[in-house]
Amino acid sequence: MTVETVFLNGEFVKRKDAKVDIEDRGYQFGDGIYEVIRVYNGEVFTMDEHMERLYQSAEKMKLKIPFEFKELSSIVFKLIEVNEVQEGSVYMQVSRGISPRQHHFPAGDVSGSVIAYTKEMKRPLKQMQEGVTAMLVEDIRWLRCDIKSLNLLGNLLAKEEAASRGHFEAIQHRGETVTEGSSSNAFIVKDGTIFTHPATNLILNGITRRVIKELADKNGVPFVEKTFTVDELLSAEEIFIASTTSEVMPVVKVDDVTIGQGVPGSLTTKLQELFSKRIKEDCKVQAV
Ligand code: PDD
Repeated sequence: MTVETVFLNGEFVKRKDAKVDIEDRGYQFGDGIYEVIRVYNGEVFTMDEHMERLYQSAEKMKLKIPFEFKELSSIVFKLIEVNEVQEGSVYMQVSRGISPRQHHFPAGDVSGSVIAYTKEMKRPLKQMQEGVTAMLVEDIRWLRCDIKSLNLLGNLLAKEEAASRGHFEAIQHRGETVTEGSSSNAFIVKDGTIFTHPATNLILNGITRRVIKELADKNGVPFVEKTFTVDELLSAEEIFIASTTSEVMPVVKVDDVTIGQGVPGSLTTKLQELFSKRIKEDCKVQAV
């Protein structure tokens, strides 16, 4: 295998040579933002949407990304090319940069640190066909979940609790209201209508979520951005979660409650087909 090339603060370097300063604020405070972008057939899927969200997260955190949108996009394209990624992902992170540890922001001349690297990754086709299980976990995160920030401790604790019990995902709830997965958005189907939490400060407005909304709208599937309760989740006809890496993932069991017939529901399957078709159109790959 060739030695992977990564991007670190303006340079393309071999991974073993990529060293991060101990006073980087991303490392010390989680003071930064990130994106995970999918690559299919060597092509980037929903690139502009991810890049736009990165700049929006930066603005919400008062963080200046030291590259223009187009420059940063070409860095992503170059990484995919040099690492010859066919099916995989790009991870990109921007922290507030390196400065002596202090809580308030450093002076304006401190430049943000940008890193990016690629990873080979297959589509989770088996799980998409069979469905996965999830666990309900109280949402203990902060109130700005709309920012794709590096501070993921709440998400990690939720995922760990679910994973340690053999579940694929933790579906989080604030009291009675279901918010989202620990690394995905959550959806239910009720009377043929898809419901998902509105894009407020309490969830990350997923790019996959937006593609699903667009596909549902185009194909006459009712899609409603409205909160639903834990009881509504458990009595739903279908449940699915969605993210860049999981795509449209059916959830067939939550805790010990079987959802529907315990197999992926028909609307979820239809959305998977539409989503695969969209990938095929955008990235010229085979549909499932
Ligand atoms: N996670 N909600 C949360 C909390 C997430 O972490 C993610 C994605 C999503 C879905 O967003 P998108 O469709 O844009 O991937 C929703 C990424 C994949 C991660 O942290 O690895």
